[in-house]
Amino acid sequence: MLAIIGGTGLTNLANLTITHREVVRTPYGEPSGHLTFGQIGPAQMVFLARHGYAHTYAPHEVNYRANIWALAETGVTRILAVNAVGGIAAQMGPGVLAVPDQLIDYTHGRRHTFFEGGEPVTHIDFTEPFCARARNLIARAARDAGLPVVEGGTLGVTQGPRLETRAEILRLKNDGCALVGMTTMPEAALAREKKLSYATLALSMNHAAGLGTSAGGIKLADADAVLAAGMEKVRAILARAVELHAQLPAHERGID
Ligand code: HPA
Repeated sequence: MLAIIGGTGLTNLANLTITHREVVRTPYGEPSGHLTFGQIGPAQMVFLARHGYAHTYAPHEVNYRANIWALAETGVTRILAVNAVGGIAAQMGPGVLAVPDQLIDYTHGRRHTFFEGGEPVTHIDFTEPFCARARNLIARAARDAGLPVVEGGTLGVTQGPRLETRAEILRLKNDGCALVGMTTMPEAALAREKKLSYATLALSMNHAAGLGTSAGGIKLADADAVLAAGMEKVRAILARAVELHAQLPAHERGID
């Protein structure tokens, strides 16, 4: 089954016909909320709001382990995540949608693995942090929906919840980051530990600190307007992605 993890600006899917909700208990504590099961057209899927349905968990407070464990336990094979991000590369200005293919983890102090507390340790291969099949699925869905997305690029994942300094963004730029967000890690790594197919659709809602229209500071009201408009596009792409996923042969509905 396909799961969508909604981020900032996406706490529900308007086009989802809800069939039921399920509260899942996990060995890692409470997920961000109940799992919302439903259908888009004939296709089944499950939705989870990463920050909680009332957007109460900050990026460092999200129980990523409980979220991923709950989805894996429910029989999910693929997760399409949504992230509101800042744009660093010139082509990643406000309103641009992207499907990154790499990431750099700048977070700290998050519970980032299932392999602790006596679990036999397995070192996952994370050379390619996102599943190519899932990235292609999002890109195809975007094409079908007539909405441009930038394919590829490195997403830097910062600790938050504060936004970055100008110098931090310069460092990320020098490191090769095209985008900056706060929640893709440890989510992507935990999904890989559970052998789930995982990719993210990122919406740039502002130029990152010190760049472009944020040269004199990030204007949060402007960013919120971009977010609201952009999430309508995200919804359209996801609706098509859910349909396309359901049409795939079973062996292509998971990690490649
Ligand atoms: N930095 C980090 N995360 C973000 C940003 C940003 O500029 N915008 C939206 N999420």
